[in-house]
Amino acid sequence: MEQRPLGTTGLRVSALGLGAGRISGPETSDGDVDRLVGRALDLGVTLLDTARSYGLSEERLGRALAGRRERVVLSTKVGYGVPGLPDWTGPCVAAGVDAALARLRTDRLDLVHLHSCGREVLEGGEVVEALLRAVEAGKVRVAAYAGEGEALRWAVRSGAFGAVQCSVSAVDQAELDGAVAEARAGGLGVLGKRALGNAPWRFESRPPEPDVAEAWDRFQALGLEPGGLAWHEIFLRFAAFAPGVSAALVGTASPEHLAEAARAAEAGPLDAPRLSALRAAWRASGGWGGRV
Ligand SMILES: NC(=O)c1ccc[n+]([C@@H]2O[C@H](COP(=O)([O-])OP(=O)(O)OC[C@H]3O[C@@H](n4cnc5c(N)ncnc54)[C@H](OP(=O)(O)O)[C@@H]3O)[C@@H](O)[C@H]2O)c1
Repeated sequence: MEQRPLGTTGLRVSALGLGAGRISGPETSDGDVDRLVGRALDLGVTLLDTARSYGLSEERLGRALAGRRERVVLSTKVGYGVPGLPDWTGPCVAAGVDAALARLRTDRLDLVHLHSCGREVLEGGEVVEALLRAVEAGKVRVAAYAGEGEALRWAVRSGAFGAVQCSVSAVDQAELDGAVAEARAGGLGVLGKRALGNAPWRFESRPPEPDVAEAWDRFQALGLEPGGLAWHEIFLRFAAFAPGVSAALVGTASPEHLAEAARAAEAGPLDAPRLSALRAAWRASGGWGGRV
């Protein structure tokens, strides 16, 4: 697995990262997470991305990483969900970092994102300052922002963050020529989330979850042709090798799906005609916004 610099932060990340949003609920056991993390490490997938809002994901990763914490780059997201503190305040971010350290059973988090707050919250300053104080205190290596649109652009231009996370896939191209290009020029790392575009090819009819339904609508409208490759391979290679993207995140609870994504990443960038076709189909669509 290719390891890449995360912008100019000094961190190196695997070109494929594991999005740990799907190990949140009762259908997953500690044993499942242990096997998933073990498989990730065997595949060279050393970037693990979680969040306060992903149910039991942080606790489970914390347990699964016992004895192997130093082998991974650990990323999480804060800003809300601390009992007794209002969301999107400085104290909530500070306490959120401490709580994440405890759940993940570590004394330093590699990346901490402000998790999709709006531009006005960022401009208000206190949540950004609280995160930067956690960096100064040595609790966090790199301050980051996860989100889309004008808040993402503000984050990229602010100079406060070492990395950002936004949707990047064949059905999520909105930020490629904008925030991702600016981030690259400014030396920020970029994590491309929803790299499989929520795998819309799986569904014969419109799925019920609103974000997945939107991906499905876009997939239908773009009328893409697989041209002999599997869809997961097309999506993963598109995202992982998009200019400016440091790593592509795939959300899965399945070691087999993670291994499929790793094989796709190892196949390298898509060929130029296929890539041009994907970009042209997006541009002809008139463009949709970033999916938070
Ligand atoms: N606001 C935010 O900050 C935000 C929002 C969204 C996502 N994210 C990050 O990005 C990560 C990925 O996002 P995501 O999970 O929403 O989207 P995604 O990775 O594009 O799609 C995940 C879906 O694809 C399925 N899948 C994975 N590999 C597959 C394969 N080879 N064939 C068919 N289906 C496959 C997964 O199911 P299985 O479990 O069955 O594999 C899951 O349902 C998240 O875990 C998180 O780390 C962040």
